[in-house]
Amino acid sequence: MANVILIGTQWGDEGKGKIVDLLTEWADVVVRFQGGNNAGHTLVIEGRRYALHLIPSGIMRPGKTCVIGSGVVVDLKILLEEIELFQQQSGRNVLSQLILSDEAHLILESHRRLDQARELKRGEAKIGTTGRGIGPAYESKMARWGLRLGDLLEPEAVLKSRLKDLLEQHNQILEKIYGEAPVALAEVFTELQAAAAIVRPAIKKVPYELDKFRQNKASLLFEGAQGTLLDIDHGTYPFVTSSSTLAANACASSGIGVTDIDEVIGVVKAYTTRVGSGPFPVELDDAIGKHLSVRGGEVGTTTGRPRRCGWLDLVALRYATLLNGLNSIALTKLDVLSGLKTIKVCTAYRLRGEVIDFFPSSIADLAACEPVLTEMAGWDEDISGILDYDKLPENAKKYIAYIEAQLGVKALLVSVGPDREQTMIRHNPLLG
Ligand code: GDP
Ligand code: IMO
Ligand code: MG
Repeated sequence: MANVILIGTQWGDEGKGKIVDLLTEWADVVVRFQGGNNAGHTLVIEGRRYALHLIPSGIMRPGKTCVIGSGVVVDLKILLEEIELFQQQSGRNVLSQLILSDEAHLILESHRRLDQARELKRGEAKIGTTGRGIGPAYESKMARWGLRLGDLLEPEAVLKSRLKDLLEQHNQILEKIYGEAPVALAEVFTELQAAAAIVRPAIKKVPYELDKFRQNKASLLFEGAQGTLLDIDHGTYPFVTSSSTLAANACASSGIGVTDIDEVIGVVKAYTTRVGSGPFPVELDDAIGKHLSVRGGEVGTTTGRPRRCGWLDLVALRYATLLNGLNSIALTKLDVLSGLKTIKVCTAYRLRGEVIDFFPSSIADLAACEPVLTEMAGWDEDISGILDYDKLPENAKKYIAYIEAQLGVKALLVSVGPDREQTMIRHNPLLG
């Protein structure tokens, strides 16, 4: 038995979903603890592709429990669509595999509309959000006006009155500040009631549910969404998401003690990508960037936007290692680097003439940073069929060893293709 947290170390889309799906074979429970359907986690199983936005990536494995913790913001419309889709694809009763926290906050139509209206108003300075209402939903939570899944269990009149209070405020902002049409209370209420009728049996108090699993010696796997550099506190603010994406938050936002965690794994893409606006020192606007984008299929799973690509950024990764207290990493998309004569990695930044080895907090400073690059020899071979670590080209092994030395942690898993099977497990953290 082991409890493992798995989080993204870069700007998201590191391949978390794939690794979670793989590791779920040895886990009993998979827990999403933050974010919402801004996430897009892709699994490829026997050649078939599945994209998950809200349901944890353990869902494709029968008999595993998937938990949506209190720190997640839940769009019930999307949740029901996902349940329906996976029910059709798997032929299983997906809802019976799910536990939904009664403390998780709801994303309503007015949150989505506010998110989009604000982005429009920002114009050129937009954050490039996914437009899913994530930021406004967390605002309602922090302002203590939010509606929670547990409110769906309250008498209708109570739910309606809370909804009315919230929509009155949102409609004032939508109409007076953004010149938009208001959101109709009756429509939102009817939708909530219909959704409640379906999800009600899955709504539970998650900390007690996790404690029962813990006492029965079950293994828990915590699935992060987004990535460390999109973290609300330590990321590239304001070009971040609105939740804490760090490993520490897996405990706080699902309701388990920090002393119950055995391993923290950071998922590291073998190069760097970013979707949305914000400074990105290693960004490549040339043929190499194109190679990474095309070979890596770097298009957003949630919004379909092209992802910006660049070399591996070790300044950012060293920061992610310390912020999350990583014990190990899972290195993904190594196959995408095949065919490059030389591979560069960023080991420091040059900021206004001075070489620095830390990740600046000021986005003006970060935007002014130029990467200091170290060159390594690449490899030509297609490695997507290699399943034995020793059979990787020498230069690929040197690349991995260099990353391990820079971060001070081992790459326990190495992924060389999107399929569940295209992964080398050098040591399985769930087997202790
Ligand atoms: P997540 O948000 O961290 O779960 O990552 P995404 O699913 O948004 O993006 C990762 C993309 O890379 C998906 O299309 C995966 O199918 C794909 N992928 C994951 N691991 C590998 C790998 O090792 N090699 C290649 N070529 N693709 C991978
Ligand atoms: P996964 O879990 C990559 C980015 C958006 C935008 C910023 C804020 O698939 O790795 P938001 O809608 O959260 O308010 O947008 O965060 N973003 C992601 N980028 N992967 C994600 O999730 C992301 N979720 C949000 O592009 O820049
Ligand atoms: Mg993604």
